[in-house]
Amino acid sequence: MTTKFLPPVQEALEKFPQVFQNDGKTTYAGPLGAAWAPGRVNIIGEHTDYNDGYVLPLAVDRVSAFAGRTRADNTIRLWSTHFTEYEQFTLEGLPENFDKQRESLPGWARYVLGVAAELVRTGVKLKGFDAVVSGDVPLGGGMSSSAALEVATAEAFAYFSQCGFTIGAENATFTPLKVAALCQEAEHKASGLHSGILDQAASVLGQPGKAVLLDCRSMEYHYFPFAFPDVSVVVIDTGVRRELAASAYNERRSQCEEATARIRELFLKDEPENKEARDIKSLRDIMPELYARYKAQLPQVLQQRAGYIIAENERVLKTVELLKANDIEAIGQILWQGHAGLCHEYEVSCVELDTLVDIAHKVPGVLGARMLGGGFGGCTINLVRTDAVDALREAVEQQYFERTGLNAIIDICRAAGGPGHADVE
Ligand code: GLA
Repeated sequence: MTTKFLPPVQEALEKFPQVFQNDGKTTYAGPLGAAWAPGRVNIIGEHTDYNDGYVLPLAVDRVSAFAGRTRADNTIRLWSTHFTEYEQFTLEGLPENFDKQRESLPGWARYVLGVAAELVRTGVKLKGFDAVVSGDVPLGGGMSSSAALEVATAEAFAYFSQCGFTIGAENATFTPLKVAALCQEAEHKASGLHSGILDQAASVLGQPGKAVLLDCRSMEYHYFPFAFPDVSVVVIDTGVRRELAASAYNERRSQCEEATARIRELFLKDEPENKEARDIKSLRDIMPELYARYKAQLPQVLQQRAGYIIAENERVLKTVELLKANDIEAIGQILWQGHAGLCHEYEVSCVELDTLVDIAHKVPGVLGARMLGGGFGGCTINLVRTDAVDALREAVEQQYFERTGLNAIIDICRAAGGPGHADVE
């Protein structure tokens, strides 16, 4: 077998004949093939997506992957290399029996079922398949492992359903952003997390060596080169995952909506005829000056939440200017500021993430660091001069365990392409 694939794709391909083909009972209707999709890191723009704001992610060279064969019936059978377990569900009766089937599946398989249900809802014709599911996006680590699995699922269905539908820019059934939206819907239903579009969009839009600026309101996007010869994107995993993350995330989302409603009301009370006031729909519409005018009238917690989001949107736009000017040092400064906001105002950090950022802050050559993704655990992103990566590694190895009792995992990522598939036989 060739080794031209990313490691999780290769692993899934090698595992497939061992876990599925030995029973001799299954009839396959297609050759061995694979489909995959990447996770992401977000340079800046955290929690801005569900506020109609801006984000600046890059898809990374860490993927979720399926390898398998089309079946002759409507059954989906999956083997997870990570959880070493089989799961199966049927396409019959979807999307109506989604809730019922969801109950009997573990978390990871619910995402696959969720995407299947959303695809069926659009009216496309899906076929069953058997596949091994593998991946190297740290699970629940703030690098969009669930979105990578969802987008890989959509790509797998496109591939295994043998042209039941296509994904692409022109003449395809779905645009990549439509796939992102379907996957976001699947995430809401599968996990109850009312996530924004950041993760799924970053995965479908991935391009090697590029970051993408996405306007989460208009869904317009622009690519910017993000490959600095002497700067590495280092991701450090705290090793911590917290159950509370989904409820705290949904709570932040409602707080942002409440802050928007209150500022709009105060503004309209002062200026009932003002069109700008009437048009306020989200924190995206509240400029720093307007926020400064009303913030004292908000409860403390809403002040903090809104203050963070408004500043974070500004940070994304500033970062884009700095990218154009090739000023990676100044982008690093913005990362420190972003972390401070996430920690003190938005309150989604935790002691382990703060410890990693603090350790990084003291290492010369680390240009900037901050927590990544939803928060309460997971990873930090660090922009590091490549010749300082070893010093950062040593500092983390020496101090993180001592300060937290945990081991951190350090990884270097590159901006990589979006979803893909391949015929193997
Ligand atoms: C999670 C969500 C995203 C986004 C980030 C925070 O990853 O899935 O939609 O809100 O948190 O930026």
